[in-house]
Amino acid sequence: MRVIRAKDYNDMCRKAASILCAQVVLKPNSVLGLATGSTPLGVYRQLAEWNALEDVDFSETTTINLDEYVGLTPDDTQSYRYYMDNNFFRYVNILPENTYLPNGLAADKTEECARYDAIIRACNGIDMQLLGIGNNGHIGFNEPGTAFEKGTHCVSLTESTISANSRFFDSEADVPRFAYTMGIRAIVQARHIVVIVSGAGKAEILKDSFTGPVTPQVPASVLQLCSNVILVGDEAALSLLV
Ligand code: F6R
Repeated sequence: MRVIRAKDYNDMCRKAASILCAQVVLKPNSVLGLATGSTPLGVYRQLAEWNALEDVDFSETTTINLDEYVGLTPDDTQSYRYYMDNNFFRYVNILPENTYLPNGLAADKTEECARYDAIIRACNGIDMQLLGIGNNGHIGFNEPGTAFEKGTHCVSLTESTISANSRFFDSEADVPRFAYTMGIRAIVQARHIVVIVSGAGKAEILKDSFTGPVTPQVPASVLQLCSNVILVGDEAALSLLV
């Protein structure tokens, strides 16, 4: 694992964006695995800026997101489709048909999971996966206790995740209780993994993830088994990692 130390959030975003940018410059038809949440926002802003300057071209790039809430329409402002469209896709020259997220409105959950895994396979897997880490160590919505070998599946969100994500909703009661998530299997099979973390609030879970035992109880700990991980963190997040 490579650890890249950044001064602060903005520096972390620029460093992570430059790694993604290099991936797309080197391989314009890259398949990028993307995340939502607060942490990647500055990364997407930076990539959009470089795209506007024509330093990076996404016209041949495909994206596959990690997750989506069950039951939200794509134009619901809390859906991850809405987040991606309005924080990234609309600002860059990516083709909408090359951007994939699970369909939160799918009638049959089992079929939707199989469809998503088939998309990942048809794309020949993920070249570079951008990954945030939840306060409880989740990656995607793979909550503590999830078997590492699982494919895309529908999860019942933990109280800790519902409470963490309630900051994006009017109230905790509005947070969907279920979500689709790419499985850990597809995440660890990505050819490169870029983990982004910011803030002192992530220091403890980062330490557990990268220096504690590898266990499904801390899903991000599986990353210790991957040789292709680049951890980009700011000083506050990395403060407990020696
Ligand atoms: C989002 C996702 C989640 C987040 C994690 C960290 O697509 O898969 O695992 O990466 O919850 O979220 P933030 O960045 O908001 O701290």
